[in-house]
Amino acid sequence: MGDTVKYTLPEERIPKAWYNIQADLPAPLPPVLHPGTGKPIGPADLAPLFPMALIGQEVSREREIEIPGPVRDIYRQWRPSPLYRARRLERALDTPARIYYKYEGVSPAGSHKPNTAIAQAFYNREEGIKRLATETGAGQWGSSLAFAGALFGISVDVFMVKVSFHQKPYRKALMETYGARCVASPSTETAAGRAVLAADPNSTGSLGIAISEAVEVAAGRADTKYALGSVLNHVLLHQTVIGLEAIEQMKLAGDEPDIVIGCAGGGSNFAGLAFPYLGRKLRGGPDLRVIAVEPAACPSLTRGVYAYDFGDTGHLTPLVKMHTLGAAFMPSAIHAGGLRYHGMAPLVSHVKELGLIEAKAYSQTACFEAGVQFARAEGIVPAPEPTHAVRAAIDEALACKREGRSRAILFNLCGHGHFDMQAYSDFLAGKLKDEAYDADSLKRSLEGLPKVAAE
Ligand SMILES: Cc1ncc(COP(=O)(O)O)c(C=O)c1O
Repeated sequence: MGDTVKYTLPEERIPKAWYNIQADLPAPLPPVLHPGTGKPIGPADLAPLFPMALIGQEVSREREIEIPGPVRDIYRQWRPSPLYRARRLERALDTPARIYYKYEGVSPAGSHKPNTAIAQAFYNREEGIKRLATETGAGQWGSSLAFAGALFGISVDVFMVKVSFHQKPYRKALMETYGARCVASPSTETAAGRAVLAADPNSTGSLGIAISEAVEVAAGRADTKYALGSVLNHVLLHQTVIGLEAIEQMKLAGDEPDIVIGCAGGGSNFAGLAFPYLGRKLRGGPDLRVIAVEPAACPSLTRGVYAYDFGDTGHLTPLVKMHTLGAAFMPSAIHAGGLRYHGMAPLVSHVKELGLIEAKAYSQTACFEAGVQFARAEGIVPAPEPTHAVRAAIDEALACKREGRSRAILFNLCGHGHFDMQAYSDFLAGKLKDEAYDADSLKRSLEGLPKVAAE
């Protein structure tokens, strides 16, 4: 089987439990704080927004959390996802590196996001919830929750960041096809949206603003809860099916990754692939390098500060300790809409602080160049977000070539770019600009960080 390209597992090998890295961390996560009291919050504070089962997962220290049967049954629709050996890309790069990618674009919505959308919809339905409100950046998460809502009979309202809403009209059509409602954010439907529009009628929106709108809607209605597509512990937990399967598939390949790479917006696809590997390492297993890759235009891990901050622009969420650019930070309108978030998952931030992972930032043209090179070798057009992981994987493979060393590089190809072709057209026409973040606005945004006594 020397030339195997695709390593697949049968449906029975879909993991039976998610992996919870909180069981293996050398230091616990800092607590989530109530913005009013500055004291750690309890389950009752989160109950208006999330079902109790998910609140329990948020704070659990159990290493394994069983995947409910109905969720595993739906996972069968696309899981286990394939693991590929990028043999044609290796040849194109003329590298001694062994490059592997886990492909999550085979899900119905086109990315890793249904791994948690299905689980979240399931737990909400179990607790009698009829409606979910959410935000979406690239549209991948909104489509995934819309799909999950259709399967569980839950209505879904999606606030889609305005710049992406206009860049990707067919994502809205996909959400509507699944039966969801999708509005451009900032909208006039919420006080948070109206406040942003009053200050800047031309606001292109951000994930932080869209979160405020969705939280406001969920908090105001008893039959409605909020669903988040990234950042929170339970979301990262659900994504660990990716890494758990990859560990088995790398065994089929008779190889072990030296380097694991994922793009990081809120941190969920990155954690989904990396945490099962990090857990093995923390329990005395094989060592490896783990790299989170983010856009230079929204560099929370590489340029942000590790501090308590709000998860949203309107300051409706609790305070979480994370790498942040400040909740007021407005990233430029890059095409990787899913990476335009001012913060980073507390768990990803924590493992970065513990020195367990590295972070890198790339500009968007360097990423699209890698995406095109990948498509021309492997045939799959990556979503703009994972082109960041592709860029880093190619750079590591080129480093192998320079050093004359073979390393195994595994990255998460967490979604396809079939709804993102305008971005590729713009890139191919030479129209894409590299917009670095604005240092002054970052400084101002960081000055607005909440003052927290516990720090
Ligand atoms: C395809 C894709 N990749 C990555 C991301 C970034 O999110 P996360 O860091 O949670 O994986 C998104 C978010 O919308 C996405 O749609």
